[in-house]
Amino acid sequence: MTSALRDLEPWMCHALALAARGRGAAEPNPMVGAVVLDAAGNPVGEGWHERFGEAHAEVNAFARAGERARGGTLVVTLEPCCHWGKTPPCTDAVIRSGVRRVVAAMADPFPRVAGGGVQILRDAGIEVHVGLCEGEARRLNAPYLKLLGTGRPWVHLKWAMTLDGKIATRTGDSKWISGEASRRAVHELRGRVDAVVVGRGTVTADDPLLTARPPGPRLATRVVLSASAELPDRALLRATAREVPVLVFTAAGNEPKLAGWAADGCEVLSLPGSDTGLSVDAVLAELGRRRMTNVLVEGGAGVLGAFLDAGAADEFHVFVSPKLVGGTAAPSPVGGTGVGRIADALRPAEFTAAPSGEDVYLHGFAPGSLSRVGVGGR
Ligand SMILES: NC(=O)c1ccc[n+]([C@@H]2O[C@H](COP(=O)([O-])OP(=O)(O)OC[C@H]3O[C@@H](n4cnc5c(N)ncnc54)[C@H](OP(=O)(O)O)[C@@H]3O)[C@@H](O)[C@H]2O)c1
Repeated sequence: MTSALRDLEPWMCHALALAARGRGAAEPNPMVGAVVLDAAGNPVGEGWHERFGEAHAEVNAFARAGERARGGTLVVTLEPCCHWGKTPPCTDAVIRSGVRRVVAAMADPFPRVAGGGVQILRDAGIEVHVGLCEGEARRLNAPYLKLLGTGRPWVHLKWAMTLDGKIATRTGDSKWISGEASRRAVHELRGRVDAVVVGRGTVTADDPLLTARPPGPRLATRVVLSASAELPDRALLRATAREVPVLVFTAAGNEPKLAGWAADGCEVLSLPGSDTGLSVDAVLAELGRRRMTNVLVEGGAGVLGAFLDAGAADEFHVFVSPKLVGGTAAPSPVGGTGVGRIADALRPAEFTAAPSGEDVYLHGFAPGSLSRVGVGGR
């Protein structure tokens, strides 16, 4: 990389921070940020993709820069698009702006772009560099890249547990394990994902609402997994299905048992199953088909175990509360089959611990989840 490009690194970092402001609102589009520098290298405009269906980052940045962009540089976190989607191609706006150089963090693998944007700009005589801060850009848009590459959403697993590793007491009581700050963090997470997933056990034991309170930029569909379709007749999810969507996955043939849920506005969909329950991959394929980018699996132990056994987790959010409840019968967070040897244990990458009010927030990524989208070497 030339020193002229390296000098632009702080601007690319700024553009990445701008891009992140679209988290939860831009999906299923990527988060994108842009900074326009004038011919002397001074910032004259910036913007980000604020909401799906609305103007792209470059267009917002050029709107602020106006004529001052002429002869300058566009620093942007993703290759400008070159196709008509919900808005016109950004390459048109870049060419019209009169910038002489475009520095992008990464190419856009979206099939209708995929290098086409760079080519159009080069054909128009604009100098184009791709790859400045690419790792950071890929990390930011890891869920977008995973959905494009695999057709499956990015899977966040979340649980709250006591110091002795329990997610409920022996009687099934689980309100509240974590403190207020952790619960707030969970509501923020819910407010930016496309779906919140739980199993029949959690619906039966906790009768949760699973909404984000206060609401975030996104309204998550509440997803219930129940092969048996033995869901309670009265449930908050069912009672509020007309306000916030509910999707119930069940085993083929059991849909009639959920006629009441369907009549109350829940969507009921059948999937292939096995002795151990519904196929996790079939669930994710369906959510991906709906272009859901991020899903949050909230439990309980059966469902979290199924996702781990299936190798379907990407990111972990664990809240540990300084409480001890004891009891052999009190459940631990992750069921399923698990591994037989400690040597085979899953070790989260980039594992961190931070205070969360009275609790501790543990965060990490499943090994391979970042490298699959081209983030590596850290
Ligand atoms: N502290 C926390 O963070 C937290 C969060 C959530 C829940 N919880 C606690 O967890 C407990 C419930 O846990 P749980 O393990 O009994 O219930 P669960 O994981 O919520 O639900 C398990 C059920 O999900 C259905 N299912 C469908 N596909 C599955 C698959 N592939 N693998 C596994 N299950 C599948 C099955 O129902 P069918 O038989 O109908 O197929 C199964 O019985 C409650 O006590 C609740 O309070 C705690």
